[in-house]
Formats: sequence, structure tokens, C-alpha cells
Amino acid sequence: MARLFIPGPTDVDTEVLQAQVRPMVGHRSTAFEQLYARLQPRLRKIFQTDHRVFVVASSGSGVWEGAMRSVVARRLLLCVCGAFGQRWADVAASNGTPFEQLDVEWGQANLPEQVETALKGGEFDTLAVVHNETSTGVENPIGEIVTRARALRPDLVILVDAVSSAGGVPIPVDSWEIDVLVTSSQKCFALPPGLAFAAVSDRALQRAASVSNRGWYFDLLLLEKYHQRDTTPSTPAISLLYALDFQLDRMLAEGMEARAIRHQKMATQVQSWAAERFELFAAEGYRSKTVTSIRNLRALDISALNKHLSLHEMSIANGYGPLKDKTFRIGHMGEIQPSDVAELLAHIDEFLQTAR
Ligand SMILES: Cc1ncc(COP(=O)(O)O)c(C=O)c1O
Repeated sequence: MARLFIPGPTDVDTEVLQAQVRPMVGHRSTAFEQLYARLQPRLRKIFQTDHRVFVVASSGSGVWEGAMRSVVARRLLLCVCGAFGQRWADVAASNGTPFEQLDVEWGQANLPEQVETALKGGEFDTLAVVHNETSTGVENPIGEIVTRARALRPDLVILVDAVSSAGGVPIPVDSWEIDVLVTSSQKCFALPPGLAFAAVSDRALQRAASVSNRGWYFDLLLLEKYHQRDTTPSTPAISLLYALDFQLDRMLAEGMEARAIRHQKMATQVQSWAAERFELFAAEGYRSKTVTSIRNLRALDISALNKHLSLHEMSIANGYGPLKDKTFRIGHMGEIQPSDVAELLAHIDEFLQTAR
């Protein structure tokens, strides 16, 4: 039974948790190199890429910061449509990365034509977009954005934050020519928090070679050097890699297409339920398949709602940052099944009866 209907961390299957309980190995040992190498083909399949997929001991934010530091040689165009895009602007500012921010009203998507116009207006060599903006429940039309951007600037390095969508929503990294796609273990991969995955193109690495002050821990070129030897520069999160090893098989046994269908089905379920009772925060046509943000038109006490749900060992999320109490969010990603969603919505309906 699913308990966490928050947009990450998600529930982790008991067998996956148990897969961590194995003896340690040294990360310079053959056993470790075999483990690392064994992960690659399955990660590449999930990310639909022939490139390397770095597995790093950090949450997604660390690798994202490292990617930004590694590839911006001239100027970054950063698309912002919510709190996570804004976080990346803060990261760029604090690293002294030259950047320009392309904002839209929260709840709206970053649109391809706007990105194209902005790209024409400056000497940008890097574009960064959040695929699934978890704070607003918006899914950006990433395929169209990157296709147009690439047509305009063939040498652009394109970074995509797919922290709350990759593993649940298909993102064909190579056919869309995405250079760095970052995600975290604790969302659609339904693993414990603590790992970040980054599918990285040759173009991104070539760019990194021209950039100085890339930092150390998340330097893409250093990660690549050790990746070539099936290991990592510093001590990896070995227990989490055991869990990943196990979970990748489970994900592929379900099938990535079946996973995508399940996530779409749960999104439709939550969105039609919410549209009948409230309003959806995200603009129509750009609604996330993994998290739904709902306008709290009935001024519900979200803590009281969660208290009610806790009787059934369930919880949902309040709105993010400035959207707290104005919206609430239901996460439908990872291991959650449509039957779990139906159960959750029935329990929220019980609460709505009492809160009248
Ligand atoms: C869209 C998005 N980007 C980035 C992050 C940050 O990820 P992490 O907490 O793994 O660093 C999150 C976390 O919720 C997210 O939803």
C-alpha cells in the first residue's frame, strides 16, 4: 500500500530496501567495478541514451550545480516557471555564472517560441530547462523546446532537470539531443534519497574541457575519467547502488512503456477528481504526469487533511513556498498504483464531507 503521495521521496518497496543489506566492498575492487558496469546498460535504456550515465552520491541538486559549473563558458539562458527553476537561478548567481532568466507566471509553461526569441537576444552557449516543475505541477514541452533551440544554435549545450519525471515519464535523451539530463533517486525511481543520475553527452564534455573552475566533486570531466574505469572519483554510496541494481531490474520488468502509461493514468485520475472539486493550478495542456497542484478553493486546512489521511497512514503535500495553503499537491509517481490513488481520493472525499 502506498503511503507517501508527496512529490518525493516516494515509498520504497521492502525488497528494494532489503537489497541494500549486503556486505561492503571497496570501490577500487573488481566487485565494485562489475556492479558499476552492470548498472550502465540498464540506466542507458531508461534514459534512452547511448551516452554515459553518471551515478553520484548526492541529491539531484549537487549534480545540477556541477553541470552548470562545468558547461557554461559564455552565458546561460535559464527557463523559470516555478520554485525549482528559481533555485537554479540562485545557484547560477552564487557561482558567478553569467545568466539570464526567462520567467513565466507560475502555473504556466515555458513555451518554445519564447525560448527561441530569448535565445536570439543574447550570446548564449547553454540552455537550462526544468522538465517537470514540481512546485506548480507544470510539465514543460521539452521536446519542442530543445528541437527549436538546437535548430537555432547547433552548438548549444542543453541541460534538463528531470528530477521529478525521469523514470516515470519517457524522455528520449538522444533523439531530443539533450546534453545533460539530471534526476534523483527518490522520485520516479522509487529508491531511497541520496543518489543522482546524469546522462551526459560528448558535446557537454567537450564544452567542459574549455571551462575553468569547474569545482571538483561534481566536475563532469573528473566523473568521466573515473567512469571510464567503472568507478567514481570519491567513495560511492555503495548500499544505495545495491538497491539501484535491484530496482533497475524491477523497473525494466514492468517495462518503461507500461510505467509511462501507469503514470499518465494516475495523473488523469487525480486531475479529473480535482477539476470536479477544485481547480488545477497548472495550465491546461501542460499538466504534469507525476504531481498535481490543486488550487485550495475551499480554504481547506491542509494540516487537518493530512491528520485525517494519517489515520490511513497516507499523506499529501502542501503547496510549495509562496503557494503554501493556496494550493496543495498530490504526488503520483514511483511505485504508486492507480488503485492506491483511488483509495487516497476516497479518503480525501471523506475529509471533504466533514470539512463542509
Ligand atoms: C524539479 C525538481 N528539481 C530539483 C529538485 C531538487 O532535487 P534534490 O532534492 O534531489 O536535490 C527537486 C526536488 O524536489 C525537483 O522537484
